[in-house]
Amino acid sequence: MEVSDLGLFIDAIKGNSSYDFSNYSDKSLKRRIERLLVENKVNLKGLVHKLRKDKEFLEQVVKDVTVNTTELFRDPEAWQEIRHRIVNKLKDKESINIWHAGCSTGQEVYSFAIMLNEMGLFNKCNIYASDLNTDVIDFAKKGEYKYRFNLNYLSNFDQVLKENTYNYSEVVDVEYEKYFTIDKKTDKIQMKRFLIEKPIYKKMDLVKCENTFLIPFDIILCRNVLIYFNLGLQNKVIDFFHKNLKTNGFLVLGKHESLLGYPENKFDKKGKFYRRKDA
Ligand SMILES: C[S@@+](CC[C@H](N)C(=O)[O-])C[C@H]1O[C@@H](n2cnc3c(N)ncnc32)[C@H](O)[C@@H]1O
Repeated sequence: MEVSDLGLFIDAIKGNSSYDFSNYSDKSLKRRIERLLVENKVNLKGLVHKLRKDKEFLEQVVKDVTVNTTELFRDPEAWQEIRHRIVNKLKDKESINIWHAGCSTGQEVYSFAIMLNEMGLFNKCNIYASDLNTDVIDFAKKGEYKYRFNLNYLSNFDQVLKENTYNYSEVVDVEYEKYFTIDKKTDKIQMKRFLIEKPIYKKMDLVKCENTFLIPFDIILCRNVLIYFNLGLQNKVIDFFHKNLKTNGFLVLGKHESLLGYPENKFDKKGKFYRRKDA
């Protein structure tokens, strides 16, 4: 697929909706479009024609080009750091506002909620979550996941909650049933109601840089989202997060993401995380 082909696709979306993929990284976008062509049995011209004519199809294509891979306690070592290097520092606050930007199907949201409950902070935390894709938000709200396909959820859970890498003498036994039920017959993991009822979900397009939650945050997690944007858009979104963090608030990015190329005077690097710098 040529760059000009990519341009045709991006223009068709942009010209017929409010979505703008102009500043997504080419590589991932190309791969997703190629898959779309195969799945829809059309060539690029046919795809562009359909995007112009069929609003419902366009909405579906927008959902299909975004990557929704996620898991419970993804990158367990990062969660140990979030616990000890971030949340511990905020634990004495009256309330803590947390935003999962690009929450996908909700596993990251429930991971944090579970961890907060183990730390005794669940009730004082306000949890917000957003994504561009309304299908994944609907999925997240149900809190129901496949069991056999996701056995690593349990080992991640054990690694984060039962092994305390910051204090080896303290090994706690946390039962899965405290947070979710496992039904092997129906192949389901079901998050408990108190977890499902906690987050406020909203559709939000990060490209637009509008915080429709209308509040500032103590912690913003935007993990494994910026890798799909080009450097210009990454910096624009990071700037937007900076503005929507409270004084000394934390920004958490994915394992392979960083603030490289972003002005150094705006954030302090704290281990793998970033803390808003305020004069
Ligand atoms: C790979 S998932 C990451 C999920 C989770 N944060 C994690 O790390 O496991 C990326 C998510 O970003 C969302 N996304 C992509 N572009 C977006 C945009 N412009 N605005 C909001 N969300 C977006 C996708 O729909 C997808 O659910």
